[in-house]
Order: sequence, then C-alpha cells, then structure tokens
Amino acid sequence: MKNFVLTCLAACALSGQVVAQELTSISLRAPRTSGGITILEALSQRQSTRAYAPQMLTDQELSDLLWAANGINRPESQKRTAPSALNYQDVDVYVCMEKGAYWYDAKANKLEPIIDEDLRKLAANGQDFAASAPVVLVLTSDLSKMKGGDTETNRLLGAMDAGIVSQNISLACAGLGLATVPRGTMDKASLAKKLRLKDSQVLLLNHPVGHFVE
Ligand SMILES: Cc1cc2nc3c(=O)[nH]c(=O)nc-3n(C[C@H](O)[C@H](O)[C@H](O)COP(=O)(O)O)c2cc1C
Repeated sequence: MKNFVLTCLAACALSGQVVAQELTSISLRAPRTSGGITILEALSQRQSTRAYAPQMLTDQELSDLLWAANGINRPESQKRTAPSALNYQDVDVYVCMEKGAYWYDAKANKLEPIIDEDLRKLAANGQDFAASAPVVLVLTSDLSKMKGGDTETNRLLGAMDAGIVSQNISLACAGLGLATVPRGTMDKASLAKKLRLKDSQVLLLNHPVGHFVE
C-alpha cells in the first residue's frame, strides 16, 4: 500500500513537471511605438464590442497591445505606458488564451506561463461572448506593492490604476483595429486560484480582445 501511494505521488509530481514543461515562456516581438492613427482618431473610434472573429491576434498585435496596456515606455526609469499611484506599478496583466494562461512580464517583454488551461470561460462567467475572444486580458492590482498594504485607500488606488490600464487597452484596440470591452464580470475565486494569485492581488477587470466580425 505504502509503495502504491509513493508511486502515485511520484506520478503526480512528474505530471506537474510535464505541465510546467509543456507551456514555455514566449518572447514577444518588439512593440511598435510609432505610427497608426492619431490619439484623437482612436478616441473617436473607442467603443465596447461584444463579438469577435475567431482568428488569433498576430504576434505583432499581441505585443503592441500588451505594451500599450502597461509596457515599459521609458527604459531608463523602467516606467510604464500607464501611470500608477506613487509609481507603485501594482497592476499585472494576465493573458488567457485557448492553450493556456500567461503573465505579461513587461520588463523582459515576455509571456511567462502560468497554467496550460483555457481560463477564458472563467473570465466570461456567463457572458459567453467573452469566452469566444481569442485573447482575454485579466487585470489585477497587487496591494503588497503599496505602502500600508491592504487598506481602503490602497484598494481605491489599485482600482484607479487598473482603470487606466483598461483605458490604454481600449484605445490601443481602437488604434490597432481590434475589438474589446472592459468587463468587471468574472469568476474571481476560480480565476485567483488558477492564475495562482497572491492573497494581496485583487482581480479588477478583464478585456476580451479579438478581430472584428466581418
Ligand atoms: C468598470 C467597468 C465594468 C464593466 N463591466 C462590464 C461587464 O461586466 N460586461 C459588459 O458586457 N460590459 C461591461 N462594461 C462595459 C460597459 O457596459 C460599456 O462601457 C458601456 O455600456 C458604454 O459603452 P461604450 O464602452 O461602447 O461607450 C464595463 C465597463 C466598465 C468601465
């Protein structure tokens, strides 16, 4: 019996390693930092869209989108395209796709694997259109990055910081000709578990992103 239990434990540990090996980190293309439509045109075109074509974003579109969301735009100071209260840089962007979920490492311009499961349904949480988008970006604020930690004021600051990242995403989508909608709806308890969030990370918003349906 003891041997059987040990064999099972070894098999589970091994399968855990296999899962970790299956999804590897993805180096993103260099984001485009010029060109496109003007900011006034992007503001004119910003809208919420709740239907998406099934085709995946191109590698360039994904890189541009993530950089616009919360990428590094001043390498010398490591500051970001989105401002944050006291430069806490508390917002993390998770990328949920059919093949799995990743954390956007803005500093390395990479996607780091979290889990090889499709979490888009958990983000959709009943709004089926959201699970049909090829990419769902999930935004969290990490209160442990703020002085004082989990306080009412810091939760407000975190929500504002995530709101700004969300608007960056909406405007980037307008500029890139992509469809999106900011959403507060999601299965937060399940997502927190599957994305292996720290207790200090608050789930705030998500953005399904895809091409427009012709
Ligand atoms: C904080 C926030 C949460 C939202 N949550 C949802 C949501 O859960 N589901 C949804 O379909 N739209 C959601 N929306 C989108 C709004 O319904 C939408 O922005 C609003 O109807 C105005 O439309 P517009 O974005 O095209 O101007 C949310 C918007 C914001 C700013």
